[in-house]
Amino acid sequence: MTTKRYVLPVELTGWKTKDDTGEVHFSWDYDSGREKMLNLYDKGKRRQWDAQIRIDWSETIDIDNPLGTEDHFVPIWGSPMFDKLDAKGLGELKLHLASWQFSQFLHGEQGALICASKIVQNVPDMDSKYYAATQVMDEARHVEVYSTYLNKLGIAYPINPNLRSILDDVLNDSRWDMTYLGMQVLIEGLALAAFGMIRNMTGNKLARDLTAYVMQDEARHVAFGRNALRDYYPNLTEAERQEREEFCAEACIAMRDRFLANEVWSNLGLDTKECVQWVNESESQIAFRSLLFTRIVPILKDIGLFGKTMRDTFEKMGVLGFAEVDIDQIMDEDDQLASEIDKARVADVDKTVALGALEDL
Ligand SMILES: [Fe+2]
Ligand SMILES: [Fe+2]
Repeated sequence: MTTKRYVLPVELTGWKTKDDTGEVHFSWDYDSGREKMLNLYDKGKRRQWDAQIRIDWSETIDIDNPLGTEDHFVPIWGSPMFDKLDAKGLGELKLHLASWQFSQFLHGEQGALICASKIVQNVPDMDSKYYAATQVMDEARHVEVYSTYLNKLGIAYPINPNLRSILDDVLNDSRWDMTYLGMQVLIEGLALAAFGMIRNMTGNKLARDLTAYVMQDEARHVAFGRNALRDYYPNLTEAERQEREEFCAEACIAMRDRFLANEVWSNLGLDTKECVQWVNESESQIAFRSLLFTRIVPILKDIGLFGKTMRDTFEKMGVLGFAEVDIDQIMDEDDQLASEIDKARVADVDKTVALGALEDL
């Protein structure tokens, strides 16, 4: 509730300027935010955490199997290339697959950090600027988390060309909604599904905990993108919506194909062509790549980008069925799970402190 009274109405003094990266909006209306945006901002402030304190980095990692997964999770499992691997080769492959996967998360998080800061600048409303500022801090923390984790693995991969190309498109578009659509909906939607699979299948406590905590933040980011775009997209013309659907269709195919892991096969001296062909055709890998779209499909439907182009693309990709997923429910479950892990952590810390106090007597 504002008690400031401007000597001129704010609508008459708005200021939009430009820098090399796009529009810069100033807002003089500091008080009249939308309730749902301000709630996200409040939640963002309350839920800040310190990665060095909340995560127990002393947890051990088996370097030959960092995620503690069964062999059938290796994408070329069952192939002649897999059968040729000895124990050392399999250990090396599992390490490289984990480091490749988490390297892409790391680079994607830096992309999110830069996009969130761009949103602070581009978005016209103060409530969204408030919220996006909390996201800038969240994304910096995620970069820190994945970078620290990769230091423990000791190997990192450069950014995948498909991910880089989507980031390039998003960052070079000066329209604010394209930043949200590319980053908050597509890149983060896909990352969330991948995080969810890792969280649920890993046998390693460190990998599970850090993934669950990052997911708790990401749920707010996706909620923000959905809220903003759901308000905005009904006002676009058919041609404007079509342009966005075409961008999404192309990006979804590129993102699916980045999971063929070309870089890992070539780096380890395996036959890249044979491995890619196997991963491309293997039934379990096709199912895995489909699951990456459990979040994106219902969100695009929810924000009103679900015309013929999008439906046909998802039909061809075999993921149209995810349109019926209850996205709010799975986001709530993500939040719940992270809270439970955190409760167990706090209880552990309390127990250790109590033991220490007894020893001091
Ligand atoms: Fe993030
Ligand atoms: Fe995010």
